[in-house]
Amino acid sequence: MTEHRSPDTHFRTSLLEENDGPGTNPTDNQTMGEIIAARFSRRGFLQGSLAATAIAATVSPLALILADDARAAGGSAFSFDEVEAGVDDKHHVAAGYDADVLLRWGDPLFADSPDFDPAKQSAQAQERQFGYNNDYVGYIPIDGSAEHGLLVVNHEYTNPHLMFPGLVTIVEGEAKQAPLSKEQVDIEMAAHGGTIVEIRKVSGKWQVVRDGKLNRRITSNTEMALSGPAAGHDRVKTSADPTGTKVFGTVNNCAGGVTPWGTYVMAEENIHGYFSGELQEGHKEAANYKRLGIPEGAYEWAAHYDRFDIGKEPNEPNRFGWIVEVDVNDPTSVPRKRTAMGRFKHEGAESIVAKDGRVVFYLGDDERFDYVYKFVTAGKFNAEDRAANMDLLDDGTLYVAKFAEDGAVEWLPIVFGQGPLTAENGFASQADVLIETRRAADLLGATKMDRPEDIQPNPTTGKVYVMLTNNSKRKTDQVDAANPRAENAFGHIIEIVEDGGDFTATKGKWEVLLKCGDPSVAEVGATFSTATTANGWFGMPDNCAIDAAGRLWVSTDGQGPKATGRTDGLWAVDTEGEARATSKLFFRVPIGAELCGPLFTPDDQTAFVAVQHPADGGEDWEAFGRPSYYEDLSTRWPDFKPDMPVRPSVVAITKQGGGKIAV
Ligand code: FEO
Ligand code: CA
Ligand code: CA
Repeated sequence: MTEHRSPDTHFRTSLLEENDGPGTNPTDNQTMGEIIAARFSRRGFLQGSLAATAIAATVSPLALILADDARAAGGSAFSFDEVEAGVDDKHHVAAGYDADVLLRWGDPLFADSPDFDPAKQSAQAQERQFGYNNDYVGYIPIDGSAEHGLLVVNHEYTNPHLMFPGLVTIVEGEAKQAPLSKEQVDIEMAAHGGTIVEIRKVSGKWQVVRDGKLNRRITSNTEMALSGPAAGHDRVKTSADPTGTKVFGTVNNCAGGVTPWGTYVMAEENIHGYFSGELQEGHKEAANYKRLGIPEGAYEWAAHYDRFDIGKEPNEPNRFGWIVEVDVNDPTSVPRKRTAMGRFKHEGAESIVAKDGRVVFYLGDDERFDYVYKFVTAGKFNAEDRAANMDLLDDGTLYVAKFAEDGAVEWLPIVFGQGPLTAENGFASQADVLIETRRAADLLGATKMDRPEDIQPNPTTGKVYVMLTNNSKRKTDQVDAANPRAENAFGHIIEIVEDGGDFTATKGKWEVLLKCGDPSVAEVGATFSTATTANGWFGMPDNCAIDAAGRLWVSTDGQGPKATGRTDGLWAVDTEGEARATSKLFFRVPIGAELCGPLFTPDDQTAFVAVQHPADGGEDWEAFGRPSYYEDLSTRWPDFKPDMPVRPSVVAITKQGGGKIAV
């Protein structure tokens, strides 16, 4: 979700301080201000155009300069002609490629779905249509095909000022948003969640299979099961669910993953915004909720549904903030919230099968000063028997990362009864530990990171990439080796290699792959290679993907005319050999959007990307030639038509004439 704050605070989407929470980590874990001087000083030992590839801190500046010369000479794994960075209302893809809109908010998914009509929206229609603000995109092949499969897409949140005609009016020159009606709240709830939709490539172009037999919408009302150690616990029981095992819906599904056994996992991220009200004085959940910024009250759902009012239903927030697993092979299956994987502001859940067959999920908790996690299943993946894997996510060990200044990373187990996770600290069971995962990780001394977003293991190289999007609130005395810049406006990327190449290992090594931002501004301290052009650098890494060739692609959230002079997009980043830390711009989005998804089909011939909240920003975007909200369809936006880029959409990028992307 976007981090930059719009000058106009009427609109929820731009409330980035709130969206990403108030920065609630109260501990003083791992600030290590004294350590940096010895390693990654804030100013860096090379600056400006020489500030390249400051990866191995022990390498001399001269060696780095020589290495940069070598990088400039070539060696990139990417051969496309990069896009020119900039700002406008269109998307742009590298020459020789097509970027075709596959799915837009409101597109019909079923035979009986009404066509999208923004003037006649209803919750019933929205439940049969593609949802809003597409984030995670996954592809699950049908019969092993790279040209016929299920696309699974998260719908993270809603922008009512971009959705509902007439919601915003101008009062004395200032945009004001009206309260939402119950019907509009119901539409919002139906626009959240996820979509599972059959797609097929025909004559080189992807098509949606309307009414595909596995097509499905998941919403904020879909019945789900709580499973794993916290299921049935008193702290997850409510008046609507006295068993503590049945949850209604999912919210703020940001990134996610597809498991090796072909299920779809959705990560519940900024859950705090949906809750309003006040706990009773001295309520036992007060510290738990404070650590998560609950309630934020950014949504108006509590005005119509008591379960989002914590004064009326104090346990409801404990039923959100989990990883949700969906069996896509049965559209009537009950999604399961897998409590063994912890409760926090989950960004994603990308996984890999370890050498011994156990499955490892990498998990980010996206808030300033929060943590990087991984979950290792107790059982082993069975490639021969899909059904045997269906409850792997209920039993395993959750770990949190501690990054040491010497380049070591230790994964600390979050297990009741071990270390400080005992009754003395208020934990009576593993359920308690998981419900308050953040507090458990605080006690273990995990490293406070610069907003961990997507984390991606690379099966080709064995390395793991952690996107750390930014942290404007890190002070100079809070800088540490793994978060090497104060007021980190542009973010960085960490690369982890687990000991012995074993993803289940509890120890590994790490280094900074990239410090992001404009490398031509010395104070920024960015570390792209000198082969990176003025178009090729980026800020605010958010999502990432590894293609079938083992190459890293990074998408961004939060750039724009003021932050970096460029819209968000998809960058190809070299990680190996002489070209390491060279980045190239492949695709960029319209103004106001962030780019999510990126996902390559197994044959590397298609990259799916999710264009989220185009035109968002609260104020008029000049490039659109109209307001970014719609006050009235007929007067403020006379040219409105459904194919305008203001609708969040999934775009399929293919090479003209066919073939692999960017070879
Ligand atoms: Fe929804 Fe952390 O982005
Ligand atoms: Ca994200
Ligand atoms: Ca990813």
